[in-house]
Amino acid sequence: MGSRSFSPPITILVLVLLNFTPCLALAKTSQCKFPAIFNFGDSNSDTGGLSAVFGQAGPPHGMSFFGGPAGRYCDGRLIVDFIAEAFGLPYVSAYLDSIGSDFSHGANFATAGSTVRPQNTTLRESGFSPISLDVQWNEFYDFHRRSQIVRNHSGAYQKLLPDLDAALKRLPKAEDFPNALYTFDVGQNDLTAGYFANMTTDQVKAYVPEVVTQLQNVIRYIYGLGGRYFWIHNTGPVGCLPYVLERIPVLASQVDEAGCATPFNDVAKYFNSQLKQAVVQLRKDLPSAALTYVDVYSVKYALFHQPQKHGFKQSIRNCCGRGGRYNYNINVGCGQTKMEHGKQVLLGKPCDDPSGYVVWDGVHFTQAANKFIFQQTAGGAYSDPPIPLNMACHRIE
Ligand SMILES: *[C@@H]1O[C@H](CO)[C@@H](O)[C@H](O)[C@H]1NC(C)=O
Ligand SMILES: *[C@@H]1O[C@H](CO)[C@@H](O)[C@H](O)[C@H]1NC(C)=O
Ligand SMILES: *[C@@H]1O[C@H](CO)[C@@H](O)[C@H](O)[C@H]1NC(C)=O
Repeated sequence: MGSRSFSPPITILVLVLLNFTPCLALAKTSQCKFPAIFNFGDSNSDTGGLSAVFGQAGPPHGMSFFGGPAGRYCDGRLIVDFIAEAFGLPYVSAYLDSIGSDFSHGANFATAGSTVRPQNTTLRESGFSPISLDVQWNEFYDFHRRSQIVRNHSGAYQKLLPDLDAALKRLPKAEDFPNALYTFDVGQNDLTAGYFANMTTDQVKAYVPEVVTQLQNVIRYIYGLGGRYFWIHNTGPVGCLPYVLERIPVLASQVDEAGCATPFNDVAKYFNSQLKQAVVQLRKDLPSAALTYVDVYSVKYALFHQPQKHGFKQSIRNCCGRGGRYNYNINVGCGQTKMEHGKQVLLGKPCDDPSGYVVWDGVHFTQAANKFIFQQTAGGAYSDPPIPLNMACHRIE
């Protein structure tokens, strides 16, 4: 009898420990309000960098949303655009684009064709951007430093800029840097660069640790300048994209049920496992950083594996291109034109309804796919630790 009288308090105590404590812990974490986004990467998140320097991506890019080309290799918005929208921020201007850009809420250092490691080839030779991640870091370092010199009304800018106040409106405040969200989506081109240089999968795998170390170092440098919140996409299933499938033939036995080439996807998964470990290490080394590793690979692969289930009609076959098995022609890209009888004729044509396609131009995802990937990943189901995008400023121990 005596023991029975003790059981209710014990039950309550157990309930408190099991159920209520996590609720209290969650209540302490409020939604993050990032004043700015600084993005680093390749064409998956380029909002106009490569276009500003090497020539604009022409029509029909941008056709589904911007009403015309908008520096993006897409019919509309990229994942980084949906991230900006989610925080009520303007789309992030490309750092290299001096026309109509506003950096008061961040800057985008990504360019199409960027790798983590600097390439020893020119863009003309290999198609890879000279704006590799080390260059993007240099740009960020310079942007961080000089924007504050302007803000301080100091240095040469007193004479260089006739209207300092107008210039300041387009630059972040000093406190925006530590409070900003730093986003990364880079690595895919490091993998393809090796394959396109005729390396074997083993040769590509051999340099993956170096790629991951260099990416990890850039995160350390940004932390050193005060950056704290990092949202790091892993790399996608590159073996499902026409530009790889058309360029590097594989054996029939190396094609999976989704139609993707397994050697390239295996090396992407290898990169991802290394990246995930690198982020775990960074979490130990950088005590005030909140680092989220985001598995976009799985969401992208699901689109190729079960397109219909997710509302898409086509998976690997791209929307914009010119003929062939995948509507991808290595010699005639999306938007390519030709002069015929004094008139410009569009050779790389878009499909009627890009929203039914996963792949836009053989290399990049459509706006519809980007929106799907954003919606799936923003909730935290693909994050490590499993926190949603709007909680990415909280460090989970
Ligand atoms: C470029 O060349 C340097 C010097 O030979 C080498 O260390 C580096 O790994 C090369 N980079 C790539 C991406 O192959
Ligand atoms: C700007 O001014 C602040 C406050 O005086 C100072 O701490 C900071 O070092 C200055 N930064 C630069 C880049 O001049
Ligand atoms: C790769 O091999 C192909 C076929 O042998 C050749 O045409 C191409 O020039 C090679 N590419 C490089 C970068 O070595």
